[in-house]
Amino acid sequence: MSLSGRALENGTWSYDAINIRDHAHDKHQTVDDTPYGGGAGMVLRADILENALLSIPESKRGKLIYMSPRGRVLDQCYVQKLTQEDNITILCGRYEGVDQRFLDAHKVEEVSIGDYVLSGGEPAAIITMDACIRLLDGVMGNADTAGDESFSNGLLEYPHYTKPAAWTDCDKKNHDVPDVLRGGNHAEIKEWRDAQSLALTQDRRPDLLKK
Ligand code: ADE
Repeated sequence: MSLSGRALENGTWSYDAINIRDHAHDKHQTVDDTPYGGGAGMVLRADILENALLSIPESKRGKLIYMSPRGRVLDQCYVQKLTQEDNITILCGRYEGVDQRFLDAHKVEEVSIGDYVLSGGEPAAIITMDACIRLLDGVMGNADTAGDESFSNGLLEYPHYTKPAAWTDCDKKNHDVPDVLRGGNHAEIKEWRDAQSLALTQDRRPDLLKK
């Protein structure tokens, strides 16, 4: 079972899923309508979304976020911030968008998982939840794991190696584990790993260094 699945069973976190359609007021359970001003797609209605939101007890609503490619891009720093919240309500959009008046009236924070467009916000919500849940106390076995990993110090993580020390690939090419990692000198190992982290970040994500 996944870490987040086990943590759910343990009661470390819990969730309720709300179907916006259950809060529509016509027999077709309509939740959207055409955009004022014209254009493609449909827009989720502010009144229906508010009905859905108010169905959540006030004490459970917590921070309100809307998964949207227009939002601030999720990064580890923001994930950490989200984990400080006791409750979070995540709105997953479909169609073209959400009536802006709902977002304004309820001070909804828009969050994107990257510069691409999904057909709905649900996968983005699952990614956001998973990134948060693994940081909750007791979810990861080894408390140190989250401290060393990519982004926790603004850099990408150094490379890992395990047994066997010498490995021959299918093209008969030999690959050894770097000597420094087998030498047992912790200061040298740390220095090597830090240098690797920095070089990898410079090569793959120079934008992180600028931050
Ligand atoms: N919904 C559609 N695209 C999205 C994205 N990139 N991030 C968050 N929610 C989305």
